[in-house]
Amino acid sequence: MKTKKQHRRELFSSHIGMLLACVGSAMGLANIWMFPARLGEFGGITFLIPYLIFLFGFSCFGLMGEYAFGKKFRKGPVQAFEQVFVEKNMPQFGVIGWFPVLSLIGVLAAYSVIMGWILKYLVLAITNSFVAMDAPAVFNSFAGTAANIPWTLLTILVTAIIVSLGIQKGIERYSTIMMATFYIVVFFIVIRALTLPNALQGVIHMFTPNWQVFFKMRVWIYALGMAFFTLSLGGAAMVVYGSYMPEETDVPKTARQTAGLDLLASVMCALFTIPAAFSFGFDPGVGPGLLFISIPNIVTRLPAGYIFGILFFLCALFAALTSSIVMLEVPIEALMSKFRISRKNAAILMSVLAAAIAVPLNFSMSVFGRFTDIVTIIIFPLAAVTGGFVIFWVYGAEKCRVDMNQTAKREIKKWFSPYMKYVYVPVCLLVVIMGILFGGL
Ligand code: PHE
Repeated sequence: MKTKKQHRRELFSSHIGMLLACVGSAMGLANIWMFPARLGEFGGITFLIPYLIFLFGFSCFGLMGEYAFGKKFRKGPVQAFEQVFVEKNMPQFGVIGWFPVLSLIGVLAAYSVIMGWILKYLVLAITNSFVAMDAPAVFNSFAGTAANIPWTLLTILVTAIIVSLGIQKGIERYSTIMMATFYIVVFFIVIRALTLPNALQGVIHMFTPNWQVFFKMRVWIYALGMAFFTLSLGGAAMVVYGSYMPEETDVPKTARQTAGLDLLASVMCALFTIPAAFSFGFDPGVGPGLLFISIPNIVTRLPAGYIFGILFFLCALFAALTSSIVMLEVPIEALMSKFRISRKNAAILMSVLAAAIAVPLNFSMSVFGRFTDIVTIIIFPLAAVTGGFVIFWVYGAEKCRVDMNQTAKREIKKWFSPYMKYVYVPVCLLVVIMGILFGGL
């Protein structure tokens, strides 16, 4: 039942390009500024255990589902959900595919504000401005002010340019370049950090278990929330990338590789920030504190810190850009397929919309914080529930399993279907409820 249009859908051209695009989406700000901090805060291993359980035991299967669903339908969520509901004689529910798409525009707006900060700091690194800088004062005078608007707009522009080049020439090519650079460069940054005086103590601290926190619910909830966010499970992004996967793609294997490389990136980020902060006696901190206060302080004390400062912010920018690319691609795909407008026009429309939301967020840190919380704690996880429900309940987890096993070397067994319906989807819902109760994940 394939139409001409579906035949012409552009697909990823190579396994490695496809994988790096997927890994690029997965690894982002959560890996850089949340993972190391959580590891330090919750006693390394005692955080890693729940995190690994949730990453490979829950979200990796959700990722398989989103990939397989997109690959099967060769459509993004707007049209694929519509088709599923029409087939079930419930066409009136078809519109809910727009919800995960809109949620990503919100995440993109928040992301682009932070990318603006990163870009500005990359320029500060290049102009060697960290040396004489009072890091907290500079950050506070910049973040939450109109001064970040041009930087925010610049990052949206770069994202839009890459996405408007298309799947192979834009997303695949630039994700490959940026991710390959990221892994190679961060590897050297880690070596540098681990050979600093006292670095080993940082590593020991990072992995010292704290069995008291292990039994606290908060650790498990944080690990769960991060395992979902890091794999970009919001019912849309990974469906769209799945829809560009070549026919022969082994979906379960690709999902495992995505989760594995994402974990590697997180561990590498932790192996840099924690030992380096320890070596110079800084608190690695969490969120903006790490990236924009501790790191500038660290690199000014590091031998050859000028180079390392540039490389670090370049890698942070690459990590964020490869995520913002898919956040913009999702609404673009929706407009292109639903209203048949060109990729370029869709890119212009959607980046203007993202910019219109992002610009006002720059005027106040508290507005930015509130907006980001609502989007990442409530709306995005709610979109994951929506996606999980449509894929595993309405379309059917068993059908999804059969679809993905067609090209899988290692078959996913029968337990998958009840597990996704009765465990995975309720757990997604738990992420939303707990996120609201805990005020953040
Ligand atoms: N996975 C990204 C991160 O860890 C976030 C993201 C969400 C990316 C949704 C794409 C889509 O920061």
